[in-house]
Amino acid sequence: MLDSSAPTTVTARAPGRVNLIGEHTDYNGGLCLPVALPDETTVAATPRDDDVVRLTSGAVEGAWEGRLSDLGPGRVNGWAAYAAGVLWVLAADGVPVPGCDLHVESTVPLGAGLSSSAALEAAVAVAVWGLLDRPLHDDTRALLAEVCRRAETEVVGAPTGGLDQAAVLRVPAGGAVLLDFAAGASDPVTPVRFDLPAAGLALTVVDTRVSHTHSDSDEAGYGARRRECEDAARALGVETLSLATPAEVEECAALVVAGDDVLRRRARHVVTENARVTAVVAALDAGDWRTVGALLSASHVSMRDDFEISCPELDLAVATALDAGALGARMTGGGFGGSAVALVPAERVDAVRRAVDAAFAREGFGAPGHLDGTPSAPASLLP
Ligand code: GLA
Repeated sequence: MLDSSAPTTVTARAPGRVNLIGEHTDYNGGLCLPVALPDETTVAATPRDDDVVRLTSGAVEGAWEGRLSDLGPGRVNGWAAYAAGVLWVLAADGVPVPGCDLHVESTVPLGAGLSSSAALEAAVAVAVWGLLDRPLHDDTRALLAEVCRRAETEVVGAPTGGLDQAAVLRVPAGGAVLLDFAAGASDPVTPVRFDLPAAGLALTVVDTRVSHTHSDSDEAGYGARRRECEDAARALGVETLSLATPAEVEECAALVVAGDDVLRRRARHVVTENARVTAVVAALDAGDWRTVGALLSASHVSMRDDFEISCPELDLAVATALDAGALGARMTGGGFGGSAVALVPAERVDAVRRAVDAAFAREGFGAPGHLDGTPSAPASLLP
């Protein structure tokens, strides 16, 4: 017989994401267009009758254990900080977070630019939401995305922009989502049809296995790009770079300092990337997949030359995928390593993967990983 007093475990799942286009635009008040991946993170949550939190993961030995009052910025390290951060932000917002055991399993590769952290955060948030028997709908998904973003920024200390958390919680199943990070955007989240099978196409993701970091202390990396964008916006006299036009960026003399045009190139990437996102949405609407592909490839060139966040492995993956028949390809995510995504005729997926493997071997790079990019479902509670 079932013991009716036994605590009920709820399990939540949240996908990784691949951003189709719109990179480093989120924290610049701009546009992004992600899809959810089939790879996902699950969190099984069991309530306790004390105020202890116990975090375990199938990928890591041991457990993090503490009291609800022990959570908070700078108090938990490593992977556990993402989960603890979500509990702390929820509690700080007045949500009655219970003591609980949380167990994590994941197939999203870590450090691959595919939002393993947002998948973990969202799975924890949805699991706790489930423990409290609260409903998941558009408004609460928006609220939880913001909780997860704050957990990553305030507790983990990674100054990310919100794309990842919004993607994994708000993407429509099987589609893409247009995210508009402009302050006061009238339509911040718009579902976008992305019917690859109808067009005989597929998305394939190459994990270069060159790992990246997003921490603020990464002077040459993500944090440095954020600061350069803030400097460029200041030089242009705008609140965020997305409020500048391409012509203003080209004409603003203050973007060139002592003959160095680095700020102009950073700003150019952001304003042209926003325009490419809009153009991709229009091309999807028109069923013009060739144009979608060309825009993805143009985005890669912009990230390589103007934003300077690519690396030889990413450039090789993109060039090889295009040679092997992809309609378009680009690095995806924060950059400095991580993954590339290619839009490929479905029957060419294997050929593209084999070509990338051969090219990496030829260059003496470590073997890459390949992931299926089939647009999948947003975070949810498992029945
Ligand atoms: C990382 C960050 C996001 C976004 C992307 C780049 O994934 O977490 O907020 O800035 O990089 O588009």
